[in-house]
Amino acid sequence: MNALVDQLKSTVTDTKATDIRAAFASDPNRFAKYSVTFDDMLFDYSKCAVNDKVLDGLEALAKAAKVAEKRDAMFAGDIINITEGRAVLHTALRNRANTPVLVDGKDVMPDVNAVLAAMGVFSDGIRSGALKGATGKKITDVVNIGIGGSDLGPVMATLALAPEHDGPRLHFVSNIDGAHIADTLKLLDAETSLFIVASKTFTTIETMTNAATARAFIAEKLGEKAVGHHFCAVSTALDKVAAFGIDSDRIFGFWDWVGGRYSIWSAIGLPLMIAIGKENFGEFLAGAHAVDNHFRTAPLRENIPMLLGLLGYYHRNVLGYATRAILPYDQRLSRFPAYLQQLDMESNGKGVTLDGTPVAGNSGPVVWGEPGTNGQHAFYQLIHQGTSIIPAEFMIAANGHEPNLRHQHQLLMANCLAQSEALMKGRTLDEAKAQMASKGLDKDFIERIAPHRVFTGNRPSLTFVYDKMTPFTFGRLIALYEHRVFVEGALFNINSFDQWGVELGKELATGLLPVVEGKESAAGHDSSTAGLVAALLKAAK
Ligand code: F6P
Repeated sequence: MNALVDQLKSTVTDTKATDIRAAFASDPNRFAKYSVTFDDMLFDYSKCAVNDKVLDGLEALAKAAKVAEKRDAMFAGDIINITEGRAVLHTALRNRANTPVLVDGKDVMPDVNAVLAAMGVFSDGIRSGALKGATGKKITDVVNIGIGGSDLGPVMATLALAPEHDGPRLHFVSNIDGAHIADTLKLLDAETSLFIVASKTFTTIETMTNAATARAFIAEKLGEKAVGHHFCAVSTALDKVAAFGIDSDRIFGFWDWVGGRYSIWSAIGLPLMIAIGKENFGEFLAGAHAVDNHFRTAPLRENIPMLLGLLGYYHRNVLGYATRAILPYDQRLSRFPAYLQQLDMESNGKGVTLDGTPVAGNSGPVVWGEPGTNGQHAFYQLIHQGTSIIPAEFMIAANGHEPNLRHQHQLLMANCLAQSEALMKGRTLDEAKAQMASKGLDKDFIERIAPHRVFTGNRPSLTFVYDKMTPFTFGRLIALYEHRVFVEGALFNINSFDQWGVELGKELATGLLPVVEGKESAAGHDSSTAGLVAALLKAAK
């Protein structure tokens, strides 16, 4: 791999691949060459620093890293999460073809279908009012209590699919900060509220603590006996849920082969199903399934997740770009960058390879972003003129959900396309001077100010265009990024499916709790931590 990466670095220099502007000027077919369509979806990577030789080098990397073989092993249910001894089969959750998927020789599809059917019955009951609260009133507000993968997916998806939201109001409580649940409870009438406790392990301290607070809220307002009518749970730890006091017909299971950050397709998607209905949820699954088939069968140069992953690896390990910006031109995708942060950074933020040796080069980049056009008026300055190059990933629909506001959508599209064009083209010093001169500005002023108006250009971006943000398209978009993370993880040769990096902080927090409670001394902690404890306790009322 190292030799191939070095070779690719030489190819970049020898072929001047990073002069994207020149590549466009010399090849009118560049867009056609470096873009791929997948039904109504278009993936344009022509504004990245690629040429045929670079793509050959990336293809060689994919072969050397056995990306296709690793992909097939994932779909086949092999134990690819080696540190936890688990298969990785979120793809089975959206396997609309219903072909058998074997784990330890057992087909998981009957269980997958049974939970999906139970979710459908329950969500229909809540949406129609057939399932009522303890006092006989219809449920108007559903609160999902979960964190990380048990929160980000449903909260992000509910926002994204707001046009389909015709069920009860949804709320999401994740943070251990009491402000989160306190502010939510203030909005609720206990008689018409349902709480979903969502936790794969059913041990996460934030979720368990918030669930206990919510339970106390119901018990105090409606009595202990009402609790069962106002709670349900989603977990793989069915025994622990039962111990919490939730009836078995209100427990929706999933399995250890579903990673938390890949669990939106499982019963973790229950709040989304309650919001948009089981038919729309089915469309969402179908979109992801379509991408699974595409990822498995499309040749590499027409395979969007393969290309996305290879470009991501190229940006990080060949060109050395440390971050990437996710810039959806869709206000309803406002939490999509945060969702991808967990998906990508928890998956590929690793320092050792599958055999426990240090990763050569870099693993996953920092992922961040905000919707356009808001970001344009905040941080795009740095993307255009800052000293770091940040690959930008744009996404835009041809049609909004507000036909009466078509002009606003046209402005949105124009802004999205203008940004990627500006990043690629930039503006030379001569162009800046000429533009200023055309405005009749003074020569000295032009000399002084023109350098500030220079844009280096040649800044890479890729763009997704699709018809409309429907549940199907949304399912496709998430699945494309999931598989992109897989491809990059395969190239880094890491385990993308564990998350040991979050454990140390959890352990230390457990040890510090009695210290901040004032029950134990801070002795043994470093002087900074002890000093901070002392300051907090001194000010505590
Ligand atoms: O913070 C780590 C993590 O394990 C995530 O991977 C997971 O999505 C989140 O915590 C929540 O875990 P659980 O669903 O078990 O409560």
